[in-house]
Amino acid sequence: MNRCYYLLLTLCFNIGLLQAQQKENTSFKPGEIWPDTDGEHINAHGGGVLYHKGTYYWFGEHKTTGRNGNRAMVGVGCYSSKDLNNWKNEGIALQVEEQDTTSDIIKGCIIERPKVVYNNKTKKFVMWFHLELKDQGYSAARTAVAISDTPVGPYTYLKSYRPNGGQWPLNMQEEWKHKTVKEADLKGWTDEWKKEVAEGLFIRRDFDKGQMARDMTVFVDDDGKAYHVHASEENLTLHISELSDDYLSFTGKWTVVAPAGHNEAPAICKYKGKYYMITSGCTGWDPNAARSFVSESIWGSWKALGNPAVGTGADLTFESQSTFILPVAGKKDAFIFMADRWRPKKPIDGRYIWLPLIFEDEKPVIRWQDEWTLESTFGKNKSQALGKADSK
Ligand code: DGJ
Repeated sequence: MNRCYYLLLTLCFNIGLLQAQQKENTSFKPGEIWPDTDGEHINAHGGGVLYHKGTYYWFGEHKTTGRNGNRAMVGVGCYSSKDLNNWKNEGIALQVEEQDTTSDIIKGCIIERPKVVYNNKTKKFVMWFHLELKDQGYSAARTAVAISDTPVGPYTYLKSYRPNGGQWPLNMQEEWKHKTVKEADLKGWTDEWKKEVAEGLFIRRDFDKGQMARDMTVFVDDDGKAYHVHASEENLTLHISELSDDYLSFTGKWTVVAPAGHNEAPAICKYKGKYYMITSGCTGWDPNAARSFVSESIWGSWKALGNPAVGTGADLTFESQSTFILPVAGKKDAFIFMADRWRPKKPIDGRYIWLPLIFEDEKPVIRWQDEWTLESTFGKNKSQALGKADSK
């Protein structure tokens, strides 16, 4: 009898546990623990989302516990979802190398802000990410690429480098290319220094070895052309570069945005034919006020629009930093601002700030909400909001 009672109790406990684990998420709760379909807090920081054939795939930095939590000890994580609220852990899409110490992606390196795009011509999934070589701090400043036949991977690592070596940006004036002024000749952060940065001080310095590439994103335009956007020149200036048709390399066509503006964490979307970019300032893991820009062409000129966040908490972007702008599939002009609330002392506990990104007077606007749903924000009919758009 005692044994039966014990078995029944165990069964009830396990069923209860299972039910708790399988509880559906029905809304976005920015900043709270976000349980995946196994009940575990999602581990995909600095992420980006790919929509492909009716499913969303969220790729992000897989953080670990302990003092190396911000280093790549495991790789890039992937989750899938049909509704953007409930995410299934698909495992590690790109694994760090454990044995070959000569590998760029040896365990303990830094992998940040992975973004995956689908190439319609080659039918391959292409992952770009910011890579810092093991034990070199943030000095390598490389971008890296991996490829897969399936969205969830496994991705095969291809190469990493500083892009655009030997190539001048489109908006570099001829006379700037021949200037001889060097960093050592100038005092930092003066107007003169900023002018020299704008006139190519660091571009000339890094011309031969390639331009620095740290915080990044990849944007695919309506015509299928893809662009790599990254913080360069010691994080002073953003670079936008065209990717080759297979998305696996740089074509050498690139431009400079907001020179000496100190922007990182770029995220881009297209709304009513114009390009909008949201960035942050540069304060490490600490939050700061977001910035926004608009341009008629991806090649500029980009005009600053100020902080897109409004209301209480806007001065620190609701304690978060941009990572991606997610177009809601099948719903015209519906965008989600994705950002990270970093927890550098316990990176695995980092939180996700997903908020509606709307446009008011042709400016992007982000307002805080404790809780929100796709339906209440972008339309009542769920099938209207989800599921029709093709993958980009
Ligand atoms: C801010 C960047 O946006 C993050 O991705 C990360 O590189 C931290 N800096 C490191 O301090």
